[in-house]
Amino acid sequence: MRLSLLLFLAATALAATPEEWRSQSIYFLLTDRFARTDNSTTAECDTSVRRYCGGSWQGIINQLDYIQGMGFTAIWITPVTTQVESSEFGDAYHGYWQQDLYSLNEQLGTEDDLKALADALHDRGMYLMVDVVANHMGYVGAADSVDYSVFNPLDSQEYYHDPCDISNYDDQTQVEECWLSTSSVSLPDVDTTRDDVKSIFHDWIGNLVSNYSIDGLRVDTAKHVQKNFWRDFNDAAGVYAIGEVFQGNQDYTCPYQDVIDGVTNYPIYFPLLRAFQSTDGSISELAVMIENVKSTCSDTSLLGSFIENHDNPRFASYTDDYSLAKNVIAFVILDDGIPIIYAGQEQHYSGANDPANREATWLSGYDTTSELYTHIAKANQIRNYAISQSDGYLTYQNYPIHTTDSVLAMRKGPAGAQVVTVITNDGSSGSSYTLDLPNTGFESGVSLKEIFSCTDITVSEDGTVPVPIESGLPVVLYPSERLGGSGICE
Ligand SMILES: *[C@@H]1O[C@H](CO)[C@@H](O)[C@H](O)[C@H]1NC(C)=O
Ligand SMILES: *[C@@H]1O[C@H](CO)[C@@H](O)[C@H](O)[C@H]1NC(C)=O
Repeated sequence: MRLSLLLFLAATALAATPEEWRSQSIYFLLTDRFARTDNSTTAECDTSVRRYCGGSWQGIINQLDYIQGMGFTAIWITPVTTQVESSEFGDAYHGYWQQDLYSLNEQLGTEDDLKALADALHDRGMYLMVDVVANHMGYVGAADSVDYSVFNPLDSQEYYHDPCDISNYDDQTQVEECWLSTSSVSLPDVDTTRDDVKSIFHDWIGNLVSNYSIDGLRVDTAKHVQKNFWRDFNDAAGVYAIGEVFQGNQDYTCPYQDVIDGVTNYPIYFPLLRAFQSTDGSISELAVMIENVKSTCSDTSLLGSFIENHDNPRFASYTDDYSLAKNVIAFVILDDGIPIIYAGQEQHYSGANDPANREATWLSGYDTTSELYTHIAKANQIRNYAISQSDGYLTYQNYPIHTTDSVLAMRKGPAGAQVVTVITNDGSSGSSYTLDLPNTGFESGVSLKEIFSCTDITVSEDGTVPVPIESGLPVVLYPSERLGGSGICE
């Protein structure tokens, strides 16, 4: 009796629910590229050769202060399973070419190392999210040469779709049944409609989550698997899962949230990038999409917000302007949804397309004084604090309160505990002026703090807020009287 209660408690303590994930802030890293066991900050890593660079789970443990110092409460790491052997087309340092679901990638460490990473995170009250793939396996060679017996446990051709290339991404049947690659490194597409395949994946994912005390999953290539696969898979995992649905149309992407807890917010990603990659991007297009996503996705608080990842060019590959970078970061962290910042973003890395965007973080020397490191820390700090101050903050849906050609002001949070974020694509050479901002919900005479600069602002008699816009920097406003004891601007 007592033992079963204990087991029950242990099981529930490990499984982090969507409710528990809503308040997290995620730092995403490629294990091979983030930190090495030897703590080197000079070990060479030429992204263009697509080889292992030596990052490890133990390396991550060594750098948790660096991650937590930016206010993150969770990490997402790339897949942990055993991959293809080294090939002339590169190594599976990224983890998306797996062969054995039941063993770990030795390049990244041992079972004990991965368990130690989960423990080290949990000791800090942080969560571990692991990337998983159910769409495909990996094989070095063309599709017609695949020896299916090398896979574990899906070791027979009957478990796979026949090879074909996706020639038309608008054809959902092709997207689900054809292979992402049929040459060089083939990616045999698992036939996830089979009942035996479903139960193999359910057994595996439940096992993986409990063996390594995983708190959440990022699910790779979710749109390449038929929708009805995901609800049972997500349930078998027993933790929050966020699917990669690489598609900007909200009518396509949002419905995946009916079968998987969250999706990466590509519908916002594209207009956000267009609005801020230069000083003449469209603010109104972004404002419209904020509303479209709210009316189409079932729960915006469980989406993943981002502007960078390992599949898209880094933001700084479009523009080296720091003010623009700071504005998109403020948006990502203070919009609805779970913020996701990609390792290296805090050091203004500028790699463009894969593999250039997979630079080794250690080469930055883990500088905790860099401009974007401290900016991210500040933005996470006010989000974490606003969450602690108001139960309603996370589920209160962010909305645009005022737009101009170059400014988007938005409000999130119930009256008296709202965060008002004002972002602009003026860029760092933009002129300085005062914006009389209406519709903030703050009462006239109330004292506000601007979080990044720690300046004091008082709401005007007419209810507008005189917001100083300087050098194209973002502005975040919060009631001063609530900040006592917060450590913010104190
Ligand atoms: C690496 O850094 C960690 C944490 O700071 C430290 O405990 C460990 O001894 C270091 N390892 C080496 C090989 O220097
Ligand atoms: C989980 O651990 C059990 C017991 O050691 C082992 O039999 C099983 O293969 C492991 N599963 C995974 C997915 O690692």
